[in-house]
Amino acid sequence: MSSTNTILTQLTTTPKEKPTVEQLGFGKHFTDHMFMMDYTIEQGWHNARIIPYQPISLDPSAMIFHYGQSVFEGMKAYKTPAGDVQLFRPERNFKRLNISNDRLCIPAIDEQFALDALKQLLSIDKDWIPSEPGTSLYIRPYTFATEPFLGVAPAKSYHFIIIMSPVGAYYSEGINPVKILVEKQYVRAVVGGTGEAKTGGNYANGLKAQEIASKEGYSQILWLDGKENRYIEEVGSMNIFFKINGKVITPALNGSILAGITRDSMLHLLKSKNIDVEERRITIDEVVQAYEEGILEEAFGTGTAAVISPIGQLKWQDTELTVNDGQIGEVTQMLYDTLTGIQNGTVEDSFGWIVKL
Ligand code: COI
Repeated sequence: MSSTNTILTQLTTTPKEKPTVEQLGFGKHFTDHMFMMDYTIEQGWHNARIIPYQPISLDPSAMIFHYGQSVFEGMKAYKTPAGDVQLFRPERNFKRLNISNDRLCIPAIDEQFALDALKQLLSIDKDWIPSEPGTSLYIRPYTFATEPFLGVAPAKSYHFIIIMSPVGAYYSEGINPVKILVEKQYVRAVVGGTGEAKTGGNYANGLKAQEIASKEGYSQILWLDGKENRYIEEVGSMNIFFKINGKVITPALNGSILAGITRDSMLHLLKSKNIDVEERRITIDEVVQAYEEGILEEAFGTGTAAVISPIGQLKWQDTELTVNDGQIGEVTQMLYDTLTGIQNGTVEDSFGWIVKL
């Protein structure tokens, strides 16, 4: 790295009280420090700094507020029983951040530098990593446009920030099966759109449908493709898998589905256990038919925040599908135990996924 990318560090003089495990929830508490750097056309990415967690000041005309030029990542750090700190496939997150940056015309960050910066930030705030089962430190890197300008064009200035939040389960159900509503009115993304990028607009677009679903008692919505409204894509905050007649099936990546890192890890894990797994197009009708034939054995979602979340109930139009009697399935449980074991350092990582601090 050039000397302009040396990371200046300013430590807080007023450390915050850490939440108890009962207070954790998801994304409500933030550690004492944050990482930040700036981009200008003249200087590129520069002024890398670790500073006390604090509000940031932006011009009211900053382009992020108007045209949504912003992308983010979600990753986690874990504390092992021996007290070591470890990350799960973090290089994948920074790679994906740059894929999203590219889609939104945001200048690429240096992935290795970002990982080094994250490790420095983590070493300062490592006491914030909870170690109770089901907890971790959620890490949110994000980039966004800061140029004060109202014309529609890629901005000329940006921030790249990393904040960190000690978390428990994403869903209040924890590892218990969730209820999912299959969306029939709204769409999340279309091929050629931004569905594959991790940009806030994709999530803002989903809020209306999610609000309706949550009023009806569902945790999340399952999106179908935006063109034919038949093919299964993903759930609001996770990728989806079905086990049908002994075979695990997940929708193939098609440009409008987020390429989940947990999704990819599950494909590797399933293959390593000699479980049949297929990435292919799958329609909601096929799932309903499998249910009617009694061969829909399991359904689960995967994501960094959601981890592995069993799906106990799916509603499509007037059909209510109860999966595996609303209980977590055998394969889902195995994947959850193996994944969280590798992440927490209690199961050997034979895939080379873990990066130690
Ligand atoms: C994640 O799983 O890290 C995500 O980014 C999903 C998020 C919308 C909570």
